[in-house]
Amino acid sequence: MCGIIGYTGPRPAASVLIDGLKRLEYRGYDSAGLAVVAGGRIQQAKAVGKVKALEEAVAGSGALGSLVGCGIAHTRWATHGVPSEVNAHPHFDESGNFAIVHNGIVENYQELRRHLEARGCHFRSQTDSEVLAHLIAGAYEGDLLSATAAALEQVSGTYGLAVVSRHHPGMLVVARKGSPIVIGLGKNENFVASDIAPLLPYTREVIYLNDGDIAAVTAETIDLRNIKNVPVEREVAKIDWDAGVAEKGNFPHFMLKEIFEQPETIENAIRGRIDHEMGTALLNGMNLTARELAQITRIVIAGCGSSMHAGLVGEYYFEDIAGISTSVEQAAEFRYRNPIIEPNTLVIPISQSGETADTIAAVREAAAKGALITALCNVVGSTIAREAGRGIYLHAGPEISVASTKAFTSQVVVLLLYALLLGRNRRLNRADGNELACEIEAVPGLIRQVLKQAPKIREIAQRYAHCDDFFYIGRGCLYPTALEGALKLKEISYIHAEGYHAAELKHGPISLLDERHPVMALANDIPGKDKIIGNIQECRARKSPVVAVITEGDDSVRAFTDDVIEIPACSRFIAPLPTTVALQLFAYYIAVERGCEIDQPRNLAKSVTVE
Ligand code: M6R
Repeated sequence: MCGIIGYTGPRPAASVLIDGLKRLEYRGYDSAGLAVVAGGRIQQAKAVGKVKALEEAVAGSGALGSLVGCGIAHTRWATHGVPSEVNAHPHFDESGNFAIVHNGIVENYQELRRHLEARGCHFRSQTDSEVLAHLIAGAYEGDLLSATAAALEQVSGTYGLAVVSRHHPGMLVVARKGSPIVIGLGKNENFVASDIAPLLPYTREVIYLNDGDIAAVTAETIDLRNIKNVPVEREVAKIDWDAGVAEKGNFPHFMLKEIFEQPETIENAIRGRIDHEMGTALLNGMNLTARELAQITRIVIAGCGSSMHAGLVGEYYFEDIAGISTSVEQAAEFRYRNPIIEPNTLVIPISQSGETADTIAAVREAAAKGALITALCNVVGSTIAREAGRGIYLHAGPEISVASTKAFTSQVVVLLLYALLLGRNRRLNRADGNELACEIEAVPGLIRQVLKQAPKIREIAQRYAHCDDFFYIGRGCLYPTALEGALKLKEISYIHAEGYHAAELKHGPISLLDERHPVMALANDIPGKDKIIGNIQECRARKSPVVAVITEGDDSVRAFTDDVIEIPACSRFIAPLPTTVALQLFAYYIAVERGCEIDQPRNLAKSVTVE
């Protein structure tokens, strides 16, 4: 949550910062601000709302837009204090000589604030972050890096921090603990940011800070230390994403672009990972021998939101295909529940961003209990990917829209590959393994067929866009698919939507059903369909309109529904993938019809880096 960008070099700083904030806006978008050090002073601009408002403020502020120097900027998702100009970052110390932008939470800020106020500091904002500017100014004795380190020693909580000072033109100081900071390496210029998205137009070479690292960055130099002021070395990593993949192109929204990218993103997730000769999957990033795989007796999957839903689909795969007892935990629950991890338990954290606070904590809890951990992440070099040590990247490219689409389907495909590998490692024979491998390879084609139906799905969506409530029901692997479909609808269209196991309706929720409560029934022609037909009839008997996802050409459900979305025929393991794509399109077109802010829904942010 919240995005940071910093720049030092010969370009006009504000334009690099604003361009960077636009690419970071998906991390938070209730207010934004920047500060530029040039000509012996720090100049700033802030605005409530989107980065566009900040851009206009800078344009209206005279010279600020063209100043050459160094600067920091921030786009905010409010935690402490309402979205307002005073609460927007950067924050300043009393003298105005130091400015900071901060991601994370200063947990002891009230105590620190009381001490600082007693020493005569005046606070302007309600944020926890402002204490950092005052602490740095208080610790300053001529060295900005040391002052920042001394300030951070007093802080408990998390931070991704960038600092500038009037006393050090051309210098950015950054520090990381629990909230990512990456340094982008340029020629005669350098960048700092909270993730790589804003760096893509300028460089492919980056240094990821580790927790406890602090660095002074100028256009020519990088002085990297740990918090105890001891120099440390970090690898320079190469990024293979290009800037174009983080742009909308001809699509009206990132979400639609990302929905339509899914045939390719799934091809990328599968590429090089199928061994037809052995009828198995090749997942080298896991670095586990066949013997080590054979010793796994239990799997625990941890994640949040869509990533948890992908895990719930994976639960069916691991149990059904590999015969390994599997459970899925909401990551926050896992971290606080003192989970039981036996010697041969495999923990699979799933996270698109790799920066979700609760999932990071779950990884640490699992590591502390000695679990074998293999993470599924999309963002290369993210905290979870690095802390887990072993894992499988999704290769979905940057996912910008807050609603997860292509990352979810890649997670499901990678879980299926993982189950294939574990299945072959125990009870699946080569022919059955190969059959599943061929089904997996056919997924991009199935998704292309669903995408061709976008105009028809749009028409159906328009008929339901006025609704206030929606139920989604499914069975088997389509039960978590129903949860994911309902999540998509509620987060982008603000329609209250509930996902239920179809059998659960009768245990309470059916009391709500009437003509104002439509039901989306996932009635694909896979085992469980007959039962779903019964459930659909129960809904119809209560006058609920029913939209059903069915298998192409299957007329057995059509008679009981108001509208159908047809999915190409596929097995029960594959069905969640094309079905999810249809549900994504349905949610998207409803949100379009309702005029919603699709890529940046209210109150949300792309990565949830606080508990
Ligand atoms: O980056 P992660 O996969 O860890 O994020 C987890 C959730 O925050 C995320 O899936 C969220 O639920 C999405 N907005 C769903 O569309």
